[in-house]
Amino acid sequence: MATQRDRMDEMIQGKQVSHCSRPPARWRHELKGVLIRQMQIARRVRKLADEIERDFAGRDLVVVSLLNGTVMFLADLIRHLSLPMRLDFIGVSSYRDGTQSRELLLTKELRLEVRGRDVLVVDDILDTGKTLKCVLDKMRELKPRRIKVCVLLEKKDRRVEKVRADYVGFSIPDLFVVGYGLDFAERYRNLPFVGVLHPHYYQSS
Ligand code: IMP
Ligand code: MG
Repeated sequence: MATQRDRMDEMIQGKQVSHCSRPPARWRHELKGVLIRQMQIARRVRKLADEIERDFAGRDLVVVSLLNGTVMFLADLIRHLSLPMRLDFIGVSSYRDGTQSRELLLTKELRLEVRGRDVLVVDDILDTGKTLKCVLDKMRELKPRRIKVCVLLEKKDRRVEKVRADYVGFSIPDLFVVGYGLDFAERYRNLPFVGVLHPHYYQSS
């Protein structure tokens, strides 16, 4: 039976998460607020893992994670998966030192064989969709049996490419967020929550 907490989580996925809470004192200067708290993330990630486990039961799963933004999400997600699986990484960098989208840079190629296998592509955030579109086009050339996409966050309003994710942690408004793996100029990946950066902070740099 669905608990109230489950229902809350579902609302969070369906609706946009838009309410911010006060950041810890240490980060108050740089962050406008905390958009998704540590506990909210933990509960939601566990639910995503349950869904994935159900959908991939009995399959030969290869998890392909996009570096570097997925580090925390991936580690938390896969520790809840009790399926046999293999893990590999693709390195792509689109935002090299700011919030502006640039040319995609491939920094690490896939090494595992995915032909005929079930692939779960994991990314931190689906924004314009350019990164995932590029990665998915590349993956399809390798002829996997099927590809599903899992993202921690999505910004629906900013989509440019026709890409959708099968598993979405949270839908968020068009704000620049950091933490839980996501960076601004390679900083803030270590925050255990998802926070909103003060716009003046990145606009002036
Ligand atoms: P897309 O190609 O525009 O969909 O962008 C995807 C990539 O941009 C993500 O994997 C992130 O690395 C980065 N990105 C997009 N929005 C944000 C954000 O709000 N904070 C940090 N990184 C972001
Ligand atoms: Mg990224």
